[in-house]
Amino acid sequence: MLPAYVPNPIAALLGGGTPIDFGKNSPDRRRILGDGKTYRGLFFGVLAGISTGLVQIWLSGMYGLSSLPLHTYLSITLLASGALVGDICKSYIKRRLGKERGEKWPIADQYDLVAGAFVLMLLFDPAWIFTNITIPILISILILTPILHRAVNMFGYLIGVKEVPW
Ligand code: CTP
Ligand code: MG
Repeated sequence: MLPAYVPNPIAALLGGGTPIDFGKNSPDRRRILGDGKTYRGLFFGVLAGISTGLVQIWLSGMYGLSSLPLHTYLSITLLASGALVGDICKSYIKRRLGKERGEKWPIADQYDLVAGAFVLMLLFDPAWIFTNITIPILISILILTPILHRAVNMFGYLIGVKEVPW
């Protein structure tokens, strides 16, 4: 799951500049996505997630770590881009519900990346999911994700990269 976990913190670290929605409003007079979703965050986030996957592929080839999930160029691309596509869809719905940028939205804020990554995977490489995401692994992901999310966001808040610690 590393290629899906890396894009969000890197987007927070390197994001900024032109928002994906170009500052435009939706007919409901609220922002389409908001200033928290930028092209720079999207680009560097996906790039970092794919780079992480490339290192994983390289390591498993190098050391024959067959216990690591068998990543392919497709699987790491889908996990990395799915994570931020999920994040963007989450923000779109969040704005439609009238929640401001950075406002808390429990469950959705934590699992958007997992949902996005899995949806892209199901659409474009379903065999990978059924081979690698067994029930115990799925349960581990569901338990680990909110814990990692909280820990990384508190750290991001402490070093001044995130405006809120969630
Ligand atoms: N970020 C970005 N581009 C993205 C995703 C994230 O630039 N595609 C950066 C933004 O600076 C954002 C920060 O990462 O503020 C944290 O991301 P997130 O928590 O997802 O955004 P929020 O500001 O909380 O906005 P939202 O309420 O829409 O989730
Ligand atoms: Mg947020």
